[in-house]
Amino acid sequence: MTDTPTTPPAQPRIARAHPNIALIKYWGKRDESQMLPAAGSMSLTLDAFPTTTEVSLLPERAAADTFEIGGTHDTGKAYKRVTVFLDHVRALAGAAGLPTANRHAAVRSHNEAPTGAGLASSAAGFAALAAAASPAYGLDLDPTALSRLARRGSGSACRSIVPGTAIWHAGQSDASSFAEPLPAPDMRLVIVTVNAGPKPVSSRQAMRATAATSPYYPAWVTSTEQSLAAMATACAAGDFDRIGQLTETNAMRMHAAIQACDPPIRYLQPGSIAVFDACARLRTRGLQAWGTADAGPNVAILTTPADAEAVAGSVAELGDVRVVGPGPGAVLLDAATLEEAL
Ligand code: PMV
Repeated sequence: MTDTPTTPPAQPRIARAHPNIALIKYWGKRDESQMLPAAGSMSLTLDAFPTTTEVSLLPERAAADTFEIGGTHDTGKAYKRVTVFLDHVRALAGAAGLPTANRHAAVRSHNEAPTGAGLASSAAGFAALAAAASPAYGLDLDPTALSRLARRGSGSACRSIVPGTAIWHAGQSDASSFAEPLPAPDMRLVIVTVNAGPKPVSSRQAMRATAATSPYYPAWVTSTEQSLAAMATACAAGDFDRIGQLTETNAMRMHAAIQACDPPIRYLQPGSIAVFDACARLRTRGLQAWGTADAGPNVAILTTPADAEAVAGSVAELGDVRVVGPGPGAVLLDAATLEEAL
């Protein structure tokens, strides 16, 4: 029998990552092709709603990637984003001289976020995909390189590589735009889902519209850089009042810039405003409660571990309420851990 050279079957890799909620928001790109943000941002990676993703390289003859999400085969928009991302991983593998560079992959993903809570974000998805796909293709990336890679899938995904509080440096180039830990006081978020319906405009589209048509966009970018620097100082000083104030102000400024698009885009609803009002009332009672909202109507209230239950209890009638805290960064799971986790 003659030996035919074959590539050994590659090991499937499984990774898990969690969504993050920004306290200083990312809204607008300076370079869309490289996913470089107009300003830096800061977030909390959550201890809830993980995405688990498996990447297996397909045999050399396979002509395309495949993508399964929640047990359903996808060939639409999400599939397209996954294949574009895998093209990027293949380019990195090619640059590293790896023989995997022209192989397609099968991606299977499972998302535990409740639909409509605004947390089924692409952040956890692309962080988990970056963490599983890079070793599947034979790349050994350090946390910075992994964060840069996740950024290519979805900007905010670069922060979900990092556990707990993270700062994403806007950077000047691909190499300098990544997230890393930003030590901060322990915090909780009380997530108030006021409307679980789909959002009217995707964040990608609305970011473009804001940059192109909102007269407040330049002021938003400048003020966010200033708020980020102030946030880093407040975190280092453990000044929770200042952290909260910066968080709520930054969210309001982002929504003001978005609402000033032509034609206007508005994510906040009457139910969202009611939660911001409740935060103001809770603060007069001496509780830490500061609102923030992403590209949707649901509000996350920033608070301390000591105040979290009281805050959650007092907004219970305004929506579905869930208390979350700091969670892990993106991690590779071995088969045994996966078994335990399921
Ligand atoms: O990374 P994207 O395209 O999902 O955009 C995230 C935008 C916000 O969630 C509104 C803000 C942020 O910094 O996460």
